[in-house]
Amino acid sequence: MVIGGVETPNQIWLAPLAGVTTRPYRDFHRRMGAGLVHTEMISAIGLSYENRHTILMLGDGEEKGPVALQLFGPDADRMANAAERALRFRSFCAIEINMACPMPKVTKRCGGASIMRNPGEAARMVSVLKTFGLPVWAKVRKTDERVHPMTTGNFCAELVERGADLLIVHGRTPAQRYEGAADKDAVISVARKFPGAVAASGDFFEPADAEYYLSSGCAAVFAARGAIRDAFLIPKTLDYLGSSVYEKFLNPSIAKQIEILTEACRAAESIEGGRSALIMGRRLLSGMLKGVPGAASLRRMCAPCADFESFERILTDFRPGGI
Ligand SMILES: Cc1cc2nc3c(=O)[nH]c(=O)nc-3n(C[C@H](O)[C@H](O)[C@H](O)COP(=O)(O)O)c2cc1C
Repeated sequence: MVIGGVETPNQIWLAPLAGVTTRPYRDFHRRMGAGLVHTEMISAIGLSYENRHTILMLGDGEEKGPVALQLFGPDADRMANAAERALRFRSFCAIEINMACPMPKVTKRCGGASIMRNPGEAARMVSVLKTFGLPVWAKVRKTDERVHPMTTGNFCAELVERGADLLIVHGRTPAQRYEGAADKDAVISVARKFPGAVAASGDFFEPADAEYYLSSGCAAVFAARGAIRDAFLIPKTLDYLGSSVYEKFLNPSIAKQIEILTEACRAAESIEGGRSALIMGRRLLSGMLKGVPGAASLRRMCAPCADFESFERILTDFRPGGI
C-alpha cells in the first residue's frame, strides 16, 4: 500500500523518538513488523554545521525498509539547507517536519511546536522541502485556541495546500506535553477532513487503540511510548488486525524473549559497537519479560553494567525467579 507517497507493507509505524529510535532500535522494530520507521528528530542547525553527532543520527544507507527523516528547525531556509545535507549522506523515503515537539530546548529556538504559532513559516517549510522531490510530511499537535491562530484542521489545510503528503496528528496540545489522555477524536476529525492523508499519534498502548484510529479513517498509526513499554506491541497489533506476523514474535516464551533480545543486541554491536548495543539492550529489556518473576531484579542487575559483555552474560545466566 502507498501512504503519504511511500510504499509500506502496513499501517503500524514506529514513531520518531528522540534518544530512542537509533539505527539498531529501528532495526529491531522493523524486524517486529513495523511498516515504516523514523529517525530521531534531527536538528537542522546541527546538520548545517555538519556536527558529527548530528550526522551519526542519520544512520547509514544500509537500512532495508522505509525510513523517514524527521527534522526540526526554526525556518524554511535552514530546513532546506539541512535536508540538502542529509540527503548527501543517505536516502530517505520522506522528509518529516517536526511541528509537534513541546520541549523548551526545541521551542525556545523556534522549532517544534512553536511553528504552529506561525502558519506562514510552516507552509513555507513544506514548499521548500517539496523541491527535493520526496514526500513531505508534517507532525503536528492538536491546537489550543488560546495560543494558536488556527484550528488543527485549518492549519493542516494550509500545509496540504502547499503539497504536504501526510499529516501526523498527535491529539495533545503542546501545553499538555505528554500528560493526560490524547484526544483521539480530534485526530479522527482531521483524518475525516483529509481522507488517506492523516496518520495518528497518541495513546497507542493496546492493539485496540490502533484499530480504533484505523477504523475511523486514519491512514497509519504511530507506536511511541507503547512500543517502549511493550517491545512486542507492533507484532501483537499486526496480528490483531489480521496481518501476517512471524509466529516467534507473538507471545514469545521467556527463553525466546532473551534470545530475541540477545540477537538484537549482537546486531547492534556489529553496526554501532558495544556501547550502543548496551544502551539499546537496556531499553528493550524495559519493555520485555513483563510479569516474569525475577525480571525486575534482572533489570536492576543490568542497569549498572559498564560493558556489553557483562550485560550479555547476565542475560544468558537469567533463570526466571532464580535471581
Ligand atoms: C521519549 C520520547 C521521545 C520523543 N521524541 C520525539 C521526536 O523526536 N519527534 C517527534 O515528533 N515526537 C517525539 N515524541 C512524541 C511521540 O512521537 C508521540 O507523538 C507521543 O509520544 C504520543 O504518542 P504516545 O501517547 O502513544 O506515546 C517523543 C516522545 C517520547 C516519549
